Amino acid sequence: MKVIVDRRDGLATVVDACASGVFERPEKDESFPRGLAKEDEVAKGLVKAAWDRKEIRGKRGEVTVVHRPDGRGRLLLVGLGPRNRFDAEGVRRAAATAVKALKGRGARTVAFRLPSFQTEGLPTETVARALTDGAVLGSYEFVKYKTKTEGGVEEVSVALGEEHARDEAGVKKAVAEQHDLAETVLWTRDIANLPADTATPERLAEEARALAKEFGLKVTVFDETKLAEMHCGGILAVGGGSSHPPRLIVLEYPGGSKRGRTVAVVGKGITFDSGGISIKPALNMASMKFDKSGAVAVLGILRAAATLKVPPRVVGVMCCAENLPSGTAYRPGDVVRTYNGKTIEVLNTDAEGRVVLSDGLGYVVAQHRPDEVIDLATLTGAEVVALGDDTGGLVSNDDRLAQGLLAASATTGEPLWRMPLTDYHRELVKSDIADVRNSIEIPVAGMLTAAAFLENFVGTTPWAHLDIAGPAYTTLTTKKYQPAYQNLGAVGFGVRVVTRYLIDSARAGA
Ligand code: BES
Ligand code: ZN
Ligand code: ZN
Repeated sequence: MKVIVDRRDGLATVVDACASGVFERPEKDESFPRGLAKEDEVAKGLVKAAWDRKEIRGKRGEVTVVHRPDGRGRLLLVGLGPRNRFDAEGVRRAAATAVKALKGRGARTVAFRLPSFQTEGLPTETVARALTDGAVLGSYEFVKYKTKTEGGVEEVSVALGEEHARDEAGVKKAVAEQHDLAETVLWTRDIANLPADTATPERLAEEARALAKEFGLKVTVFDETKLAEMHCGGILAVGGGSSHPPRLIVLEYPGGSKRGRTVAVVGKGITFDSGGISIKPALNMASMKFDKSGAVAVLGILRAAATLKVPPRVVGVMCCAENLPSGTAYRPGDVVRTYNGKTIEVLNTDAEGRVVLSDGLGYVVAQHRPDEVIDLATLTGAEVVALGDDTGGLVSNDDRLAQGLLAASATTGEPLWRMPLTDYHRELVKSDIADVRNSIEIPVAGMLTAAAFLENFVGTTPWAHLDIAGPAYTTLTTKKYQPAYQNLGAVGFGVRVVTRYLIDSARAGA
């Protein structure tokens, strides 16, 4: 999708549709909003007529189409809800709603009248950014396997209008950055949505190689032979049951500033999680192709870092394996030795994410000595129960890092919620016969015992763990409760929030 910034009023441009935001009026106030005067003028009274007929009410998610009598396309009136509860997330949702409403209806170009989406306290650049984000993200559909597709909006213009024309330079910069970032999210979704027969660990390695080539990054792929030499017993054990062998993939982006710090991002890349010998029930097992979402988000973050030239050096690590039952699969009771020398007692082969991450985390901490480590993983069903389908769980041993991620979360609209990590959780993951165990006998604090397990592999490095089991993908049932910029399937969760953190934390002098 193309996104441009236009100094003119959206109503004066030649487009298939011009979208305006409409705020909900306080109850009993039936008067026609002054903000719609220009729309009504070009529509020769049709907007006011629709208002009087109560077709337009400004409710969130409401879209009304009015055709311009002069034949110059249509007006899209997009409900924004009450003005006093409106924010950047509201803009993002409204833009996505508009783009979705136009899908398959012959509109290729749409202009957003920026001032109509603005309210007190929302800077013009923030509105422009959110419009871009929502429009690009909302346009996505996974179409790789469709033989027929519906056309949608191809070009979006952020129309400033006279009163905002002086902000043009700043808006252009913000829009360009957000456009790059949102396009990377779509790219990430396309890979995360691939089924497991296609997106094997080796295929993910190929994606990493192609990305490295395109952006001049360094890439290293450790195959099963190399992993054995390196004593990566965790990732080898988990991948042992599949005919698609495991891979540990390392991508390095050198950083945009000389004296920048190094941030490692590590992702869980289970290309399919059947549970292994501790096999999962059949219901919804198909969605376990999304168990690679953490590793694919790492790919996306590296792509965004390189595209936007973020200040810190970034090392991306993808821990990729397929978890299947077979005669060569690892089993409950096995003990494996990991890269950093620590041993794991495997009690449940379905708690495999933490087992592959143990090698990835141990490796990156020892070999790259990062200033910070952030891991992303669809790690526990307990995370979904605790925080739902939209919010990621954040566990961290470092308040500054945690605060930085929460700030980026507020900016980008990818919700995160911090959870505690205590000695109680650490005690629970101790094993009788090895250093740690991957599962415990009582079903308590599953998200936090998983985090306590991971902590063993980061040492004292400032570390943040993002359990994205809930928000990584939507299903037919959860989709209808999600904002319009989320699609069915993988949503690329984590790319925007972590990239934002990489940019903003450097600006803050870290
Ligand atoms: N991949 C799953 C976690 C998951 C569940 C992700 C639902 C997305 C949606 C993970 O490997 C898993 O199976 N975890 C177990 C751990 C348990 C056996 C200790 C879980 O959460 O039940
Ligand atoms: Zn599992
Ligand atoms: Zn899993």
